[in-house]
This record gives sequence, structure tokens and C-alpha cells, in this order.
Amino acid sequence: MHLETFIPVFILFAVLGLILPLVLTNIAEKGRNFTQDSEADTAAPASEATVYDQIGGSAAVDAAVDIFYRRVLADAYVVRFFEGVDMEKQAVKQKAFLTMVMGGPHNYTGKDMREGHKHLVKMGLDGTHFDHILMHLRATLAELSVPENLIQTIIGVAESTRDDVLDR
Ligand code: HEM
Repeated sequence: MHLETFIPVFILFAVLGLILPLVLTNIAEKGRNFTQDSEADTAAPASEATVYDQIGGSAAVDAAVDIFYRRVLADAYVVRFFEGVDMEKQAVKQKAFLTMVMGGPHNYTGKDMREGHKHLVKMGLDGTHFDHILMHLRATLAELSVPENLIQTIIGVAESTRDDVLDR
């Protein structure tokens, strides 16, 4: 091979072999970061931001409480369970509910969920009422423009409490 052809071929191989992999790794890394920032990765390590942080923490939950509360109390199918419940304490409970399903700081366990709703189960609380609450939760989050992937994560957490809440 003549030197005049060897040099361009050598440069081509150098670019393909050394520089291109570096560029591609860089692009892949950026893509990965972007995906992590824009999606609620349920398999993400515990150190990563929770959904609670991602939607804006305590302030966002306060906004959600108002909307959620309004929707639930306007629903004739479930409102009877909330009748006679202390209205002032109720706002705190709604906040606890939303903080919990969004993975924020809370002190509730499955046992508490079971105990906290047992009297409602005696009043007839069942899966259909649970479905209504999930529907209001979904509508609340959609009204706040929470991205669909985060909504799905939140609904998944709420869903995971079903057997405890319904004392099954
Ligand atoms: C989606 C799953 C649910 C979660 C994560 C949840 C969470 C909570 C929490 C954290 C509390 C406060 C407990 C306390 O410390 O007193 C609570 C209370 C309450 N929840 Fe739920 N809840 C769920 C489903 C439901 C459903 C389906 C209903 C009825 C349709 C309901 C009705 C109530 C009522 C009425 C209270 C107040 C009870 C009282 O003070 O007498 N919850 N819930």
C-alpha cells in the first residue's frame, strides 16, 4: 500500500476505532441521565428522588390535598365513609395519604392501614370503593399535570395497600 493511501485509511480507522466509541458512550450516558430525570424509574436505587420529591414535595401535596378532598367529598358512592370524620384532622389525614402513596416521609405501616380502616370495612368498605378512591387520586394528579409515568407509579403504590385497607 502506498503511503498516500495508507495515511487516510489509518486516520479513518483511528476515528472509527478510538474516537467514535468515546462519542457514542458520551451520547449514551447523556441519554441515560435524561431518561432518569424524565421518568419515574421504580427500579431506581433508594438514594434517588422519590415521586414525592419529583412532583414538588410538601407544597405539591398541599395542592393535591385540596383537589383530592373536593373530588372525594363530591362522590356520592364513597362520601358516607367520610361523614362524621373530624374535618380539621381530615386535611392532615389526606396529606398523610398522599404523602404515603407518593413515597414521601410517613409513619404508616400495613398494620396501621388495616387498623385505620377496619371500622370502614365493617361499614361495608370494599374493592369498589377502593377503586373510586384510586380514580379520584388519578384525576387529582392529572389535574396537577403530573406526568403519566409518575401517575402510574403513584397508583401502583396506592394499589399495594389494597389488602391492608380492606382487611383481607
Ligand atoms: C388507597 C389506599 C389508601 C391509603 C394509602 C389510605 C391512607 C389513609 C391514612 C394514612 C389515613 C390516616 C390514618 C390515621 O392515622 O388515622 C386514612 C384514614 C382514612 N381513610 Fe384511608 N387510605 C386509603 C384508602 C381509603 C379508602 C378506599 C377509603 C374509603 C372510601 C378511605 C377512607 C378513610 C377515612 C374515612 C379515614 C379517616 C378514618 C377516621 O379517622 O375515622 N381510605 N387513610
